[in-house]
Amino acid sequence: MTIPDRTGADTTEVHEAWLPPEAFRAIGSRRVLVRGEGPLVETVREEVAGACARYGGAHGGDQHAHAGPYDLVLALTTAEPLPGVAAEVLAELRRLPDPTIGEQGFALARRDGVTVALADDPAGLLYGLFQVVRLGEAAFRAGRPVERHRPAMLRRMLDHWDNVDVHPVMGQVERGYAGGSIFWRDGAARGDLARVRAYARLLAACGVNAVAVNNVNVHATEAHLLTDRLGDVAAIADELRPYGIRVHLSVNFAAPVVLGGLPTADPLDEGVRAWWAAATAKVYATIPDFGGYVVKADSEGQPGPFAYGRSHADGANALAGALAPYGGVVHWRAFVYDHRQDWRDRSTDRARAAHDHFAPLDGRFGDNVILQVKHGPMDFQVREPVSPVIAAMPATRLAAELQVTQEYTGQQRHVCYLAPMWREVLGFRPWGPDGPAVADVVGGGGGLVGVSNAGDDPYWTGHPLAQANLYAFGRLAWAPGLDPAAILDEWIDLTFAPTATGEAEPLRRTLHAMMDDSWRTYERYTAPLGVGFMVRPGHHYGPDVDGYEYTPWGTYHFADRDGVGVDRTRATGTGFTGQYPPPWAEVYESLDRCPDELLLFFHHVPYGHVLHSGLTVVQHIYDSHFAGVEQVERLRRRWADAADAVPPALHARVAGLLDEQLRCALEWRDQINAYFFRKSGVPDARGRRIP
Ligand code: GCU
Repeated sequence: MTIPDRTGADTTEVHEAWLPPEAFRAIGSRRVLVRGEGPLVETVREEVAGACARYGGAHGGDQHAHAGPYDLVLALTTAEPLPGVAAEVLAELRRLPDPTIGEQGFALARRDGVTVALADDPAGLLYGLFQVVRLGEAAFRAGRPVERHRPAMLRRMLDHWDNVDVHPVMGQVERGYAGGSIFWRDGAARGDLARVRAYARLLAACGVNAVAVNNVNVHATEAHLLTDRLGDVAAIADELRPYGIRVHLSVNFAAPVVLGGLPTADPLDEGVRAWWAAATAKVYATIPDFGGYVVKADSEGQPGPFAYGRSHADGANALAGALAPYGGVVHWRAFVYDHRQDWRDRSTDRARAAHDHFAPLDGRFGDNVILQVKHGPMDFQVREPVSPVIAAMPATRLAAELQVTQEYTGQQRHVCYLAPMWREVLGFRPWGPDGPAVADVVGGGGGLVGVSNAGDDPYWTGHPLAQANLYAFGRLAWAPGLDPAAILDEWIDLTFAPTATGEAEPLRRTLHAMMDDSWRTYERYTAPLGVGFMVRPGHHYGPDVDGYEYTPWGTYHFADRDGVGVDRTRATGTGFTGQYPPPWAEVYESLDRCPDELLLFFHHVPYGHVLHSGLTVVQHIYDSHFAGVEQVERLRRRWADAADAVPPALHARVAGLLDEQLRCALEWRDQINAYFFRKSGVPDARGRRIP
């Protein structure tokens, strides 16, 4: 796909990701009827028309189209008969498990030579179309059972940490590893909105339906998107809308002061509330389907309600009140902690902060407030327990926030397929095996939010294989029970198989061998046993074991000559384990029952402590770091074998990144092993060389 740049003069060759034209071959070579009204149905029609034009099929467009015969019928539910579709088939599609297909859902079946996708609303029809794309020829095989699909979460959102101006430290995209922003460049909206449209299409194909277009750290220029630069946001909204995606905006809590010139941003002040109401009215006059605000308040230097002696419920409700008349929501982030703590103070525990601040406020947030909680209590580390906030606020709408951008997981230079981690998070049962899972909790209210990993890089995500993370985020938000390996298969089938020159199977095997276990591989060669961080401060890439140890950020490992880890027990530590309900409060408290992979998150132990695996902590550190590097070496060899299976430029890009991954993994291995060998004096039981 070629996309014009902002001047319209040059074009960039952009990778088609999981929607190459060939993915539409099965649809485009058939006779297709699209039935229904509304803008999203028009999008379905255009997609079908485009595919048919390319592959020689035919499409019947409107209400009054002739009675087939058709191979594929995509229709909104209707009392009228559908041409070529038996009444019993329609009845069957509608029957199970209850009479409605449901918001954004669809039903799919093949009977009497016709494949039928039926939806109650246009969004459901769009998702039904993309399911047929995913299935390809399989959608047209006889005897398919009736499938009914409904999203587990109605809100599936990506946050872009994109700056309008290039930030002197953070650049165009904060924690972005895929080039510049799709939306903004050098202080202005980009001219090449075709790229935004293509992005929207990719997101719809994996189920995302909301996007926040600017950084949660709202700097000076970005604040103006809410008022005098709203036109830029509206232009982006126009490109996202045809694919069922609503635009959201990160706003500055102090906007009434910095934009409105008011003396205060106190959320209980009448003038402040009136300012938010007026600003929000203008937003909706410009963008009628605007989704709402995202707010990072009292967090890492951002302004918030604490400055006025108000609670976060007061703060969130003030903005929510302004949005409520229009059906908008405020995503209020729970990432509130003291980033200026004294490292000498062992009683302050950053992991406790979100629960300490927010759990007491349960029940005090307005109906249209969504409390957006990072999945772990710290900050997107490779391994963390699930945040205890998720189980602590039954009367609040909660969203879980994941980091698709790989800030702490290899910065899109390392292969790190994150779906297995997210699957674990979403499937975690905070109240034990008989209680609901995280996916159920957030599915009932706020949904799932991911920090996007996409940028203006020709492969969208820097590392071409990181596209799989973006795809998997959407799919897990739709169906959190999906198997990560099956999601990877979908992604491989869409992205590579339709264009493969030879057999797709060897490439599939290669990608599974490289990606299925890549998150655990990354974990093996980085910070061990849940202790976290040990990264270079600032950019967070590569090892620096003590980099954060004596800083105010609250991210410590407390290694000394005897042992390592953070004592977060109630008995002798910070008491963090007490923020969990049973059984986890007991499991995490107990040295015997705590899972190995989280041991150093919850306990400070001697190096000789024996894990469930039978290894001592220090031997585990040595072994896992040697193993991690060996796995990266294997990845590199596997990829070399795939040279003929993918386009040469893509192969070369990944090969170059694998060289860097190996270099970095070696650095991690040697720094971590040397550090713990020098601290503990315990030699490697297997006699390997530790520098
Ligand atoms: C991390 C990240 C920041 C980001 C912050 C947030 O700390 O390093 O760049 O702003 O998370 O989630 O707000």
